[in-house]
Amino acid sequence: WERVSHLALCLFLFLLTAQNCSYTLHSPNGTIESPGYPYGYPNYANCTWVIVAAEHNRIQLVFQGFALEEDFDILSVYDGPPSPGNLRTRLTGFQLPSPIVSTGARLTLWLLSDYAVSGQGFKAVYEALPSYTCGNPGQLINGHQQGSTFNIGDKIRYSCSSGYVLEGHTTLSCLATSAGTAAWDFPLPYCRDDGCGGTLRGQSGVIKTPNYPAEYNNNADCTWTVLAEPGDTIALVFSDFQLEDDYDLLEVSGTEGSSQW
Ligand SMILES: *[C@@H]1O[C@H](CO)[C@@H](O)[C@H](O)[C@H]1NC(C)=O
Ligand SMILES: *[C@@H]1O[C@H](CO)[C@@H](O)[C@H](O)[C@H]1NC(C)=O
Repeated sequence: WERVSHLALCLFLFLLTAQNCSYTLHSPNGTIESPGYPYGYPNYANCTWVIVAAEHNRIQLVFQGFALEEDFDILSVYDGPPSPGNLRTRLTGFQLPSPIVSTGARLTLWLLSDYAVSGQGFKAVYEALPSYTCGNPGQLINGHQQGSTFNIGDKIRYSCSSGYVLEGHTTLSCLATSAGTAAWDFPLPYCRDDGCGGTLRGQSGVIKTPNYPAEYNNNADCTWTVLAEPGDTIALVFSDFQLEDDYDLLEVSGTEGSSQW
């Protein structure tokens, strides 16, 4: 009996952890969360969410949180029903994915986790959009978005915060497609740290000009701020210094006793 009840308990636990979860969502907007979010999804999760919008609509999905065990737990997004030909993207890891807009009135999410280790999971909001809109292409990390309408003919401009360089196109245009929907002409750009300037904290560190020991760029304009605890002093020790005489300069200033700089 002991063995039988042990087996029954194992089976019960297996069914509990291997629970299937599938949902069909018909409301025009809403929120999708992986089971247990943000405290972690179960191992052996196998969940699908099918979002069905009204005809001539498309669905915009915007992620608000995303953490899946990299390469082992996967969220697949299908542009339509979940058949291999409709696979739009496979998402895993810890970076917040860009928004996704379906071509038609259906979008499917499929979460599959393996036997061990889980992350917080994911949370996304979705919204049905008319077919003549491209949807929000997304915000940039360390950058700004200019423009807040996303219909055919609209343009969105992107710029990066200081210390970052934009990679990709600064302007995206929402264009009509031959399939009768709308799409952005270029993918979302991103902001790359230009290695020039920044804020440094901590007990010690190294400051280098961009490309060091190769030459820095013309027209470089870099500001580094070193922060210490109140009462501390900061020592700056140069181990190498070569700037073009009279034309390029490094200015050092501090918050206190400016007369000594
Ligand atoms: C869905 O849309 C309705 C009407 O526009 C709005 O009142 C509601 O807050 C939205 N819900 C969500 C979850 O976005
Ligand atoms: C996930 O669930 C579906 C539907 O219940 C099933 O057909 C499929 O085999 C499951 N996949 C895995 C890997 O468990």
